[in-house]
Amino acid sequence: MALTGILRTGLVQLRVLDFEESLVHYRDRLGLSVVGKIGEDRIMLKSFDEFDHHSLVLRRADSPGLDFFCFKSLDKQTIDNIAKKSKEEYGYPVDVMTGHPGFGEITFVTVPTGHKIGFYWEVELAAVHPMLVNPHPWDKEPHGMGVACLDHALLCGPNQGETVRWFTDCVGMSITEYISTPEGDGHICTWLSGNTRGHDVAILSYPEPGKIHHLSFQLQSWDEIGRAADIMGRYNISVDAGPMRHGITRGQTIYFFDPSGNRNETYAGGYEYFPDHPTRQWSADHVGEGIFYYSKELNERFLSVLT
Ligand SMILES: [Fe+2]
Repeated sequence: MALTGILRTGLVQLRVLDFEESLVHYRDRLGLSVVGKIGEDRIMLKSFDEFDHHSLVLRRADSPGLDFFCFKSLDKQTIDNIAKKSKEEYGYPVDVMTGHPGFGEITFVTVPTGHKIGFYWEVELAAVHPMLVNPHPWDKEPHGMGVACLDHALLCGPNQGETVRWFTDCVGMSITEYISTPEGDGHICTWLSGNTRGHDVAILSYPEPGKIHHLSFQLQSWDEIGRAADIMGRYNISVDAGPMRHGITRGQTIYFFDPSGNRNETYAGGYEYFPDHPTRQWSADHVGEGIFYYSKELNERFLSVLT
């Protein structure tokens, strides 16, 4: 039984400029596998430790960025409740997508930060998935950085407080940590969890709607973060920051860019969270330490480059 009905980050659609260089990045370097195509403009991929049909869709477009961000949910009731409350109490647009390969209905809510947040519960088991009988650690050995699964995203837009309230009140997620505004009258950024991860999504206050700061993929250890950094060095992947640790969530991390300019993260460690844990707070003058725990100073690119 899930703690909230929200199981995890499960399906994300990102816009990329070019398939060939994007596949080198996501397939060969991060280590995802191609599941198939949707028409001519979308490619489905998944990580080796995910059971579901696929988790990432790359859509070829004229500009990079995020189309949608979806949570795997426990059951239909969870989603129906979110949809009803979003529409009736919040007045947010709700629409349902059918026919996405491998998936049942996906219910989308458009939130005040300008993002389409999706919820689904029916999805086919992937053709290649973690073994179920006398299981080895993996069926086919991981390649590239060997990312295990999607982890989380940092989404950015206006009306941060309203969107956070919807995530807690309507979706049922918990605030694990936040950075308060200098005046102390709100949050600059809020980390939210629906399960036992330190966060499934974080929401940053930003003037432009619908932006993504980074999409994060999970690694298993600090050793794997180091190996990922070696691969970034070997193949001249544009690194933004790291390897390092976050103060917030305590995760170990590297930020880097895909060829279209979308920021990715490889993320490992971090604490386990339970809903009875108190919320951790950061004051605005400790932002550097919260994000870049070792250097304690954010770089300008980290603050200004979003897609
Ligand atoms: Fe992150």
